[in-house]
Amino acid sequence: MGQQLNLALQIERYLPQQSLELINAISSKANQCGQMAYLVGGIVRDILLGYPNFDLDLVIEGDAVNLAHQIAKADRVKLITHPRFGTAKLRYNNFTLDMATARGELYAKPGALPVVTPGTINDDLLRRDFSINAMAISLNNNNYGELIDPHQGRSDLEHRFIRILHPNSFRDDATRIFRATRYEQRLGFEIEPQTVRLLKHNIPMVDTISGDRIRHELELIFRENYPEYILRRLSKLGALQRINTSLKGNGWIAEQFEKARLLNKPGLLSSLYLSLLIYPLRTEENEHFIHRLNISTKLAQVLRDTLHLKSQLHFLAQPFIKHSEIYYLLYEYSPLAIQTNAIASESQAACSNLELFLSKLRYIKTTLNGEDLLKLGFSAGPELGKALQILHKAKLNGLVKTRAEEEKLALSLQHL
Ligand code: CTP
Repeated sequence: MGQQLNLALQIERYLPQQSLELINAISSKANQCGQMAYLVGGIVRDILLGYPNFDLDLVIEGDAVNLAHQIAKADRVKLITHPRFGTAKLRYNNFTLDMATARGELYAKPGALPVVTPGTINDDLLRRDFSINAMAISLNNNNYGELIDPHQGRSDLEHRFIRILHPNSFRDDATRIFRATRYEQRLGFEIEPQTVRLLKHNIPMVDTISGDRIRHELELIFRENYPEYILRRLSKLGALQRINTSLKGNGWIAEQFEKARLLNKPGLLSSLYLSLLIYPLRTEENEHFIHRLNISTKLAQVLRDTLHLKSQLHFLAQPFIKHSEIYYLLYEYSPLAIQTNAIASESQAACSNLELFLSKLRYIKTTLNGEDLLKLGFSAGPELGKALQILHKAKLNGLVKTRAEEEKLALSLQHL
């Protein structure tokens, strides 16, 4: 055991006033009924590192769900509870608060969700992934601010190591393979040698993780500043290929991710990263990926569109291609698939036509609509549809600009 460290001052300096008041209110409520409250996990790690992280995780030796109900009622905030797991989430304006009843876990089967039993804070820390995430800070009257660090997390923070707590860790939960790599790259740490050895040994355990959980891990990776570094490392460790043999975390991916970030569209970034990741895959490899990750129908369509469009790019690279031809080649593809190809295509001409579609052509509409054409004497039916399309093509190609020009063209079509 290292020297006892008290972090009361650090908590006060680090946490915004509102969070501080809240956790103190929770801990006194807990203490009043003989329960104990602790800050745990990522927030403790980040307080020690001095990094921002305002999502609070509390563990309660007692009944977290009941306590959360009392707090939510007093503060009038949104509460989601999972009584079966003893967890609750409170959503405040600018942060979330997770509360969990201290528990021990037993993994009946690799990759499955664990069997949970009530326990002490030490049981709760023992079930965690890495030593740097397995520390707690007491919020209790008798030892407020004291660091609880049974797995030498503080020493690993100092030595910049990601270390598992026991040899079965990756076998119990192979998502930790992805988590270890994510923290290593995010924090600029190193996976400790014995942990690397066990990680490599347990790569086949990736097969035990459900598609939803793997997808969640990829989403978390895509939220990092530089997901390409994590993919590169996962690829070197052989974990990426275990999801799908054709996935790569190479320099090409790194270049495309960089270009995706330069678009400055944070809301799209995660989906763009995903479609860029599958860009080098063949159709059947993509189908395997979609199936393995249990990807939603909507997103699967984006991925399929991405590869289908990739096979059509030679049409877009033709010299003297008309704007109307670009439009009618692209209008049925999802914008995300088009954006992905605009980033990843090697043809400069194709890229600029894809960009032209995204920024301009897709918004061009005729001024006249079906009603207007009926008033001009057209009769309802396929001919009217055809006339509208001719007008649209003419507008796309800059042959008509004003309403009067559209009307003139429409009238000339009637006499054909
Ligand atoms: N945890 C774990 N094993 C997992 C997932 C989570 O042991 N497979 C534990 C870790 O102690 C982690 C805590 O649950 O610190 C909370 O998980 P999460 O919110 O994913 O991680 P944070 O540490 O808060 O990390 P981040 O900074 O990435 O949000």
